[in-house]
Amino acid sequence: MFPLLLDPNSLRGMRRAGRSAAATLSGAGRILRPGLRTAEIDRFVRRDTARRGGTPAQLGYHGFPASVCTSRNQVVCHGIPSPSERLEEGDLLNVDVTTCLEGWHGDTSRTFLIGAPSPEARHLVEVAERCLWAGIEAVRPGRRLGEVGAAIEALARAEGCSVVTDFGGHGIGRAMHLPPHVSHVGPAGRGPVLVEGMCFTIEPMINLGGPRTRILEDGWTVVTEDGALSAQFEHTVRVGAEGAEVLTRAR
Ligand code: MF3
Ligand code: CO
Ligand code: CO
Repeated sequence: MFPLLLDPNSLRGMRRAGRSAAATLSGAGRILRPGLRTAEIDRFVRRDTARRGGTPAQLGYHGFPASVCTSRNQVVCHGIPSPSERLEEGDLLNVDVTTCLEGWHGDTSRTFLIGAPSPEARHLVEVAERCLWAGIEAVRPGRRLGEVGAAIEALARAEGCSVVTDFGGHGIGRAMHLPPHVSHVGPAGRGPVLVEGMCFTIEPMINLGGPRTRILEDGWTVVTEDGALSAQFEHTVRVGAEGAEVLTRAR
């Protein structure tokens, strides 16, 4: 069930797809400014993905209506870009890009600061990014997948933040979403033992308030139940002999 991608062809394919998704995400980050409509981010991602020879895997996925997820402030994930939504000074915005290239998938997201958000908001974003890297550093052949979540949960708690458990990371390869579910909380002893060649995402959603979420009437937008801010970072990783190989590293 875990995509075990060890042969040279699949490895090359996953590296290319990951690099492409990372480049598109970096490009999207460079167009952000107060006043920009989130639909413009969707247009950029659609075109940039195509220019690199790929397709946006999220477009039409279970009916998702856009090429990218744009999740602002209290939106946890799966925000739908819109021509009527404009970025404002002080916003947090997660941009989540999933590229399919030659049948392989790369999935990556970052939370960007628009202008100068509050100190609490900046703290949250910093913690969310550190949580992603704490998870990545827990990856090693022979360890259990649960160690990834345990490392993330410990750091988030120490920083006074909560971890969303309604959504998680996932295996990835010839499809965007494959088993297993990657939990962003412990216990460490849970889940499959990691083996070289496994590919999955780590994508902690970290909240300033409580961990609970609800879905808006559009059927997609996930928001915090208490309305507090949420931030997320995501990388696609491959279990290498010495630890995680980050396939969506920004350069
Ligand atoms: N890229 C998202 C993830 O990290 C997937 C969103 S599915 C969509 O798993 F349909 F909402 F785009
Ligand atoms: Co993902
Ligand atoms: Co994603």
